[in-house]
Amino acid sequence: MSKELIRLANCTMAFDEEVVLNNMNLHINDKEFLTLLGPSGCGKTTTLRIIGGFQKPTSGDVFFDGVRINDVPPHKRMVNTVFQKYALFTHLNVFDNVAFGLKLQRPDGNKLEKSEITKRAMDMLEVVSLKGFEKRAVSTLSGGQQQRVAIARALVNHPKVLLLDEPLGALDMRLRKDMQNELKSIQQVTGITFVYVTHDQEEALAMSDTVVVMESGVIQQVGTPEDIYNEPKNAFVADFIGESNIVDGIMLADGLVEIFGRKFKCLDSGFASREPVDVVIRPEDVDIVDVKDGVLTGTVTNITFRGVLYDIIVDFKGFKWLIQTTDLSPIGSVIGIKIDPDGIHIMKKSAFSGMFGDYSSYSAEYDEIGDAEYEYEPESTEDGYET
Ligand SMILES: Nc1ncnc2c1ncn2[C@@H]1O[C@H](COP(=O)(O)OP(=O)(O)OP(=O)(O)O)[C@@H](O)[C@H]1O
Ligand SMILES: [Mg+2]
Repeated sequence: MSKELIRLANCTMAFDEEVVLNNMNLHINDKEFLTLLGPSGCGKTTTLRIIGGFQKPTSGDVFFDGVRINDVPPHKRMVNTVFQKYALFTHLNVFDNVAFGLKLQRPDGNKLEKSEITKRAMDMLEVVSLKGFEKRAVSTLSGGQQQRVAIARALVNHPKVLLLDEPLGALDMRLRKDMQNELKSIQQVTGITFVYVTHDQEEALAMSDTVVVMESGVIQQVGTPEDIYNEPKNAFVADFIGESNIVDGIMLADGLVEIFGRKFKCLDSGFASREPVDVVIRPEDVDIVDVKDGVLTGTVTNITFRGVLYDIIVDFKGFKWLIQTTDLSPIGSVIGIKIDPDGIHIMKKSAFSGMFGDYSSYSAEYDEIGDAEYEYEPESTEDGYET
């Protein structure tokens, strides 16, 4: 496994009295593609600026390869940055934009030979698929091409680390997807560590080795895309990382949770007996079945066609769930649902409980759930526990 390259240790950043990063601890491995993901204002750019040396943390330390670098200025760090607004030199052509950094004096006081500059710049244009564009004025390039010039310019100095702050924010969906693939392959080909910022969860899941989910200056979870999606730590992460129904549950035993007065098998264990929990059910993990076979029944109230799937909203006695399905059930129809044990994920209650994962403006009807309408379902009378 890769070794650690960067570490933020107990980093706090405050502007005046406002704490925008709160005691952040994070390590980034060599050659890793790590993404900082979170809503606007959560501290992503601030974190990048601290790594890049543009901002000193109010307290805490930054280490590079085990050496404390709090006082090392940006140009002496082996780090380059691609900013959200890629500031290209509009009076220079593509080649000169990329070669610009190479023409400057090196930290060792030497300058590169002209032939070496040409070779490196041309190699980098090839990496970003812009060979043949050398002489073009950057103002004549498309957004995606300009972005690739900015990336080539940042990579040409062979930084150990590239910091990318929402680099695809300005591009349309199609181009964004193409550039995501391109960036991922550039990262793999060059072996440069990428620290990538986005507020787009799909982008984070698609590109990263490691995703860091942030909220209000606090890291909520660090993990692989699969971990973050399948095993979110709390309701904030579950909600931010994709569509989720998040409902109250009571853990009855290892592998058994009660939701809406019904028992559901799950794979989670290690909770106290009758511990109140948050239960995440992803919209694609709900199976629609005949009413007689359903563990719960509900009424379809809304349908949105999404291409491959329909998004349907189903009302379970006032609780509205989002379900994604290929089977069209018309509005007003009553459906049964089942959920496989691996479609249920149990989370500890947290400060975010009750704030996310609800597709209705419910509340009062909660107590009615599990009432007589569901009595056809035999298990409910055999349970031997009270709701
Ligand atoms: N120089 C500064 N002075 C005062 N407050 C600042 C400064 N820089 C950032 N902030 C505040 O710190 C918080 C975090 O800002 P930051 O730019 O890191 O957020 P972000 O996660 O990058 O958001 P976005 O997705 O909108 O770019 C915000 O509330 C912002 O207003
Ligand atoms: Mg930002």
